[in-house]
Amino acid sequence: MSKQRFLITAALPYANGPIHIGHLAGCHLPADIFARYRRMQGDDVLFICGTDEHGVPITIAAKKENTTPQAVADKYHELIDVSLYKFGISFDNFSRTTNQVHKDTAAEFFTHLYDKGLFIEKEEEQFFDEQNQQFLADRYIMGTCPKCGNDRAYGDQCEKCGSTLNPRDLINPRSTLSDAALVLKPTKHWYIPLDQYEAWLREWILEGHKEWKTNVYGQCKSWIDGGLQARAVTRDLDWGIPVPLADAKGKVLYVWFDAPIGYISATKEITNDWKKYWCNEDTHLIHFLGKDNIVFHCIIFPTMLKMHGGFVLPENVPANEFLNLEGDKISTSRNWAVWLHEYLEEFPEQQDVLRYVLAANAPETKDNDFTWKDFQDRNNSELVAILGNFFNRSLVLAHKFCGGRIPAHHVLFDGPLEEQLWGEVEAGKQKIEAAMAQYKIREALQEMMNVARAGNKYLTELEPWKKAKGEYYVGETEEDQLHNKYLVENCLFHCLQLSANLSILMYPFMPFTAKKMLLHFNIDKRANELLKWEHIGRKDLLSTRYIINNPVLLFKKVEDEQIAAQMEKLNQQKMASAAATAVVKEESVATEPLKAEIAFDDFAKMDLRVGTIIEAERVPKADKLLKLTVDLGFEKRTVVSGIAAHYAPEDIIGQQVTLLANLAPRKMRGVESQGMILMAEDADGKLQFMQPKDTTSNGSSVA
Ligand code: MF3
Ligand code: ZN
Repeated sequence: MSKQRFLITAALPYANGPIHIGHLAGCHLPADIFARYRRMQGDDVLFICGTDEHGVPITIAAKKENTTPQAVADKYHELIDVSLYKFGISFDNFSRTTNQVHKDTAAEFFTHLYDKGLFIEKEEEQFFDEQNQQFLADRYIMGTCPKCGNDRAYGDQCEKCGSTLNPRDLINPRSTLSDAALVLKPTKHWYIPLDQYEAWLREWILEGHKEWKTNVYGQCKSWIDGGLQARAVTRDLDWGIPVPLADAKGKVLYVWFDAPIGYISATKEITNDWKKYWCNEDTHLIHFLGKDNIVFHCIIFPTMLKMHGGFVLPENVPANEFLNLEGDKISTSRNWAVWLHEYLEEFPEQQDVLRYVLAANAPETKDNDFTWKDFQDRNNSELVAILGNFFNRSLVLAHKFCGGRIPAHHVLFDGPLEEQLWGEVEAGKQKIEAAMAQYKIREALQEMMNVARAGNKYLTELEPWKKAKGEYYVGETEEDQLHNKYLVENCLFHCLQLSANLSILMYPFMPFTAKKMLLHFNIDKRANELLKWEHIGRKDLLSTRYIINNPVLLFKKVEDEQIAAQMEKLNQQKMASAAATAVVKEESVATEPLKAEIAFDDFAKMDLRVGTIIEAERVPKADKLLKLTVDLGFEKRTVVSGIAAHYAPEDIIGQQVTLLANLAPRKMRGVESQGMILMAEDADGKLQFMQPKDTTSNGSSVA
């Protein structure tokens, strides 16, 4: 295939904290694997990223750290840049949205749309914090989520249920700066009329990009079907790119307007020829990102590009779902994360192990979980036992039997096993190509490992170590011995050539290890020339008689103690953060006084059982009550519960609960209630189910 042009972007991380495994797994690693792969195909690739340095999260971090937003951005830009670099993320430019080129580019983009008369200008009431005398950005507004009842939802999003919100949707909105209730005040802003682009978006995405991943396509469809509304692209804020208009004092571009333009600015920074990439129908523009960024990259940014005119649109947006950590959502604020810079301190030189584990677990179709146990297993039983083992055995045997040189190819000794081996290489290559074309990185990685497996199998079947003892070849006659010599040499010839092939196959995923392999053959200087996709399948990558270095282990076993130490560290992080929240909470929780002491027998009289809500409906004329059917496994109960203000009936079907099962039946609003569901109630009156941590069989008793 002829050379293609790829413009590959990875979402710009906010410069308000270090970067963790979730960023790497969901976005930067798959983007890097893809970029490396395309470069190996000989394509013209630009791989762009940087830090997103405007927006409210940065100002919040600055307030917390008692410094300026710019200082926060400087600090984290550096940290993130270095971390990603050390993990081998091969950006052509890792830029910043506070660079002048970007400020100019974003302002010009805005001016262009303004001059074309494409914005809607609206004066509207917005929330104003009178104590601080300022309009509040969505992130500074907190209130109760109308969808799930979370009372700490932000003006733009509820982090509990993931809903995207408007500040006006919140129940009881208040300022996070002063905790004061907010007043509405008029202010002028510029809006993109997304609704006017609905027909175009439908055609471009819903008709034209049915091949996009289902999670991506589905989100786009539900946005479009849900009715698109005009979105403001300016904000009342003192941190950001000033709106380039005379009557816009104190207003800046909305961070989600400027940030994606950062991809363009970052391209401009490194080539005068930036239009070749951005303004050319032949460019394959591919955006890598996490699922929370889908709407911005699939709907809003493309609409901006379309409004502007002259830009290529994304060909694909292979967004990933989220990576959890040990079963819990990764969270910067709760410090529930594995930070890249810390990993490197604890597992120095082992970038590829994490790259491998994260790619193998990439949350491509659903949220996935990173566990240290899995990290250890994959390292020990895949990297060490398969890939490392094959490479190491091949080299050790070549030193033992072939004088540490690449042996000759004895073609006459090739048989079905060799044919099968190279057949697997070719098949692996093709399967990787097919998987990559669909951004199925996990599958591609699997296929790479299968080639290593085939190598191991080949070596094990031929057992060259049985055919030689030290310098001597086994055999009764000289002829037998010569035969064995050729067999052994030929076998190792194939193993070593396969190793060189493996370094090419693994390079997109594990670039450090690939180069380390080449170092053994003293051809690392020629790496760039060698690491080309078209070379896969060649049996002459290593020239005969070439000297091989002594093998160094490619991978080390990860010991139980190392894993225990990581788990311990996570627990410490969890406890420290829980303690910090507890201190804050303590002041606000009006603890109820304890009830009078009871005897154990009193407690033992209660029969508590686990059950599952299988039906739920409102009780007419009672706004607090829901009528539930709870399945206890051995029987079903009707229970009337006072939770209607907190839970919608349709949301709690399938919910496991703890039921006081031997409470005397009681009639409520004409319905007999046969038990009571236990709920936890916090000081704010918020109710939560007492459910087993993992699903438990119905009818299990609780004590
Ligand atoms: N900073 C955003 C986030 O972390 C991503 C910005 S991507 C860009 O969610 F397209 F806007 F650059
Ligand atoms: Zn919610």
